[in-house]
Amino acid sequence: MKIFIDSANIDDIQEAFSWGIVEGVTTNPTLIKKAVEYFKKKGTSFTMEEYIFRLLETAGFGHPVSLEVVGTTYEEMLREARILFEKFNGIKENVVIKIPVNPEVSEDGGGHFNGLKVIKKLAEENIPVNCTLVMAPNQALLSAKAGARYVSPFAGRIDDYLRVRAGIPFKKEDYYPVEGLTINNIVLNDDGIVSGVDLVQNIKEIFENYYFDTEIIAASVRNARQVRELAQVGADIATIPFEVIKQMVQHYKTFEGMENFISDTISEYRDIFK
Ligand code: G3P
Repeated sequence: MKIFIDSANIDDIQEAFSWGIVEGVTTNPTLIKKAVEYFKKKGTSFTMEEYIFRLLETAGFGHPVSLEVVGTTYEEMLREARILFEKFNGIKENVVIKIPVNPEVSEDGGGHFNGLKVIKKLAEENIPVNCTLVMAPNQALLSAKAGARYVSPFAGRIDDYLRVRAGIPFKKEDYYPVEGLTINNIVLNDDGIVSGVDLVQNIKEIFENYYFDTEIIAASVRNARQVRELAQVGADIATIPFEVIKQMVQHYKTFEGMENFISDTISEYRDIFK
């Protein structure tokens, strides 16, 4: 499983890439907002173009960076996708355009297929798409059929949704069991999906059945245990917040072991390194 960093914060991205384990970046308008607020607080000034330029340079060649459109009509999304790609892909050839699977903000909006139509068009133009806000296996199936290079199921948000609907209080980083939660003998589910990891597993099975080469980017990742479970079900990629990547390397017994090795090191052995 590849690891991407789910962030637009260049400091964090730079640091995470320096660890040698990150192979891509995913952003969205919320992450861009957070990153820009962070840099403004630090007193750094830049234009948005300069910022994206640096972001793409930080990731570098061969490391895809997803940039999202903000329009909701077919024309707007297509126009913005082309602008993002034409303006920025020349820098490191790593731009991927994020298109929502369904850009409607309400069920009766009427333009539900605009996301898929844009994906199809961009695929014809060889512009790689990361289809975002995927909350159901059928959405993933449709976006793969439309030609998305990646699909991003939002694992954590499905866990949130299941808990909110059941009235279960939780903190964002809380673990949610892959097999779901059973309340009054019924496993909480969203049309048969029992957890965010289960959503990813379902998509994986569907893609394998039909040999789609669309890669699954498990997104909306909330904790290190969820990352492990995403790897176990075979997500191609997990896009992980900086803080969660940091959790992945930690274990109490590792710290304790280090302390012991350091205190047990005899001077004769240490002298080798002089
Ligand atoms: O990549 C999508 C991700 O940023 C959404 O995460 O934590 O807002 O559900 P979250």
